[in-house]
Amino acid sequence: MKVLGIESSCDETAASVVEDGRVLSDVIASQVAVHRPYGGVVPELASRNHMINLTPVIEQALKDAQVELGQIDGIVATSGPGLIGSLLVGLQAAKTIAMSRKLPFVGVNHLRGHLLATRIEGDNLSRPNFPYMALLASGGHTGVYLVESEDSITCLGQTRDDAAGEAYDKVAKLLGLGYPGGPIIDKMAAVEGDEETFPQALRQRKSYEFSFSGIKTAVAQRVATFKGGPDDKQMHAIARGFQRAVVEILVRKVVLAAREKQVSSVVLAGGVAANKGLRAHAAKICRENDLKLFAPPPSRCTDNGSMIAYAGYLSLAAGQRSSFDLGPRSNWPV
Ligand code: KG4
Ligand code: ZN
Repeated sequence: MKVLGIESSCDETAASVVEDGRVLSDVIASQVAVHRPYGGVVPELASRNHMINLTPVIEQALKDAQVELGQIDGIVATSGPGLIGSLLVGLQAAKTIAMSRKLPFVGVNHLRGHLLATRIEGDNLSRPNFPYMALLASGGHTGVYLVESEDSITCLGQTRDDAAGEAYDKVAKLLGLGYPGGPIIDKMAAVEGDEETFPQALRQRKSYEFSFSGIKTAVAQRVATFKGGPDDKQMHAIARGFQRAVVEILVRKVVLAAREKQVSSVVLAGGVAANKGLRAHAAKICRENDLKLFAPPPSRCTDNGSMIAYAGYLSLAAGQRSSFDLGPRSNWPV
């Protein structure tokens, strides 16, 4: 079964063709340059750019997969959670193609896409078996999820305020480092040197909740203590301390959950899972706790079309269908 998947929940326009769970193509048009001057995603600009980018991205995905639209057996698109104006573009395109071609269609939950991305076949990486404990950390969400099967995913706890990726972006903006903040801070944190100390909210709580709004304020207060702003060395020390605090709390909670629920595999998912420091720390702590760690390649951690095509393929193959009056949802628990 060949499935065309469309992702447009935030600022990346993406499309992918998956055949029986294997990725034939994975195309993405990044809008980073559009949003960079604003230090974050501007929803109206994101929707407009999806309109411009989507058709060429779909055409390229078909071309790369060496298939014609007539050979596609099903169409899927992210229908939430995300920015409504952004979701509308991809969702409406998918419904239009499905309707005109009389193809089955299903709306995909973006979080489910992230959480199952590590199960995509053919990445030359080992895939986790069910059940696994997943940390999903992205620009919009941060939580711990028990994934027992493709259809049984339970959120055990999530952030009370900002998402981890949002904290990275806000701190980078505060330091004048650029957008998106995650990869920039990750790079700075990898350079050896002094390190600031920042608080890890809810560290002693036995819950799987997070809070990242306090650390952003803590960084802002520390920055304000440097007359004329922090110099390069001080910036690096802040980046290192910030990254340590975020990475340690993320890993601590998912490992705690895996141990408590007696699940032997841990999965990293979402844009923040591309973080080298997070991957290294998770590997160390999982080793110490006799847990197997899995993470998709970095390009499948950040938003992409293949995770949506894959999750949608699973739904279609299981006989699920969405009706053509399906609308976008800004909030949609997995
Ligand atoms: O999953 P994603 O692409 O989009 C959402 O669903 O939100 O995640 C985007 C977020 C951004 O906040 C970005 O700063 C963060 O993921 N991110 C990273 C890294 N690469 C992307 N955060 C930390 N380290 C990275 N290397
Ligand atoms: Zn995402």
